[in-house]
Amino acid sequence: MKTAFITGVTGQDGAYLAALLISKGYRVIGGYRRSSNQTFWRLAELNTLAHPSFCLVEHDLTDPHSSFAVLSTYQPDEVYNLAAQSYVTASFSQPSATAQISGLGAQTLLEAVRLSRREIRVYQASSAEMFGKVRASPQDELTPFHPRSPYGVAKLFAHWSAVNHREAYEMFVASGILFNHESPLRGEEFVTRKIAKAACRISLGAQARLRLGNLHAKRDWGFAGDYVEGMWRMLQAPKPDTFVLATGTTTSVREFADLAFLNAGMELIWRGRGADEVGVCATSGRTVVEVDPALYRPAEVDVLIGRPNKAERELGWRPQIKVAELAKMMVAAEFHWVGARPGLLPEASTPPIRSPATALTA
Ligand code: NAP
Ligand code: GDD
Repeated sequence: MKTAFITGVTGQDGAYLAALLISKGYRVIGGYRRSSNQTFWRLAELNTLAHPSFCLVEHDLTDPHSSFAVLSTYQPDEVYNLAAQSYVTASFSQPSATAQISGLGAQTLLEAVRLSRREIRVYQASSAEMFGKVRASPQDELTPFHPRSPYGVAKLFAHWSAVNHREAYEMFVASGILFNHESPLRGEEFVTRKIAKAACRISLGAQARLRLGNLHAKRDWGFAGDYVEGMWRMLQAPKPDTFVLATGTTTSVREFADLAFLNAGMELIWRGRGADEVGVCATSGRTVVEVDPALYRPAEVDVLIGRPNKAERELGWRPQIKVAELAKMMVAAEFHWVGARPGLLPEASTPPIRSPATALTA
């Protein structure tokens, strides 16, 4: 039985990865940081929390002693570093904390592995945000970086630390440059979940309007369940490397809103431009989406689109779920949670949250 240590197990990817590794026969040690309000709901949704192969352990990425203690107590074969301050907007208001956690924290963990058991295989969660003001499209492993946020800068430090540990110490450190991946378990501050939740609530009359920032930003959105499989495959490869995981298609925030509202039974018509643009319900004529310039970022990443050819060729990884199905899954989950049924969904009884394993065999 292999043992894996996942940092940031309470987050979206942590929950999906823990479920995947348990389904593959691993013992999973899930690192969570102490807080006054614990967030174990994702692990509970995927039936991981009480699983006999799963164990929670207190761990803070910024504390080297904390990492040494976990490594020596549990002797993991694989470490997945998913912990981060991962919200780009918050990185502008908390740049130092973001650098400490998402940048220096990753290097601290790599050093803990190097100084304790350097044969441990490590996965570093790198990000398409590192491409930022993109130098080429689509982006792949050879595209130069140009981060546009303190988060992107911190992730770039962590990425190069991963590469450096691989080269300097011959450690097995894989870096996954992952494009946006979403799910019903996504944090509510991220735009897809914010939209899915609002589409459900607005259609049920529980919310009047949805306020969004830049409607025209485009992202390469995939399903988190598919992406955690890619993380695992990177650590099973014959040699450590850097891989892009993406779908190869890009969709604007406005187009994602169209998809989400349609799944909630509402067609949107867009009127106006810039900060005056609004989304109007085609049936009622009511404005349900509006722009709030306070949600614009100091620097924006306009368009991301990845080219995952290397992962497909060398890892046999291919995303299964496209953006339209993702939007449908996310909106269905919102209705499921409030105990309602969306009027227009033909298969309202479909289980709303897919586990990673079912996603890959579907
Ligand atoms: P997430 O939901 O925000 O989860 C982040 C996790 O990190 C949470 O469990 C959080 O704990 C934990 N954490 C934060 N600070 C910590 C600290 N000092 N010590 C220990 N744990 C800490 O993020 P995600 O979407 O699952 O993403 C997982 C990783 O992939 C992140 O590193 C993210 O930057 C990266 N990534 C994500 C995407 C994406 O589209 N999802 C794309 C590329 C890269 P709390 O629950 O206590 O906050
Ligand atoms: N969050 C949010 N809220 N974003 C909005 C909103 C809003 O109300 N309105 C428009 N947007 C735009 C943002 O400006 C951005 O261009 C886009 O929607 C996506 O924003 P997020 O969902 O917050 O994700 P992100 O792309 O900034 O970052 C995510 O993906 C990265 C990988 O590319 C995060 O998961 C990062 O941790 C990850 O590294």
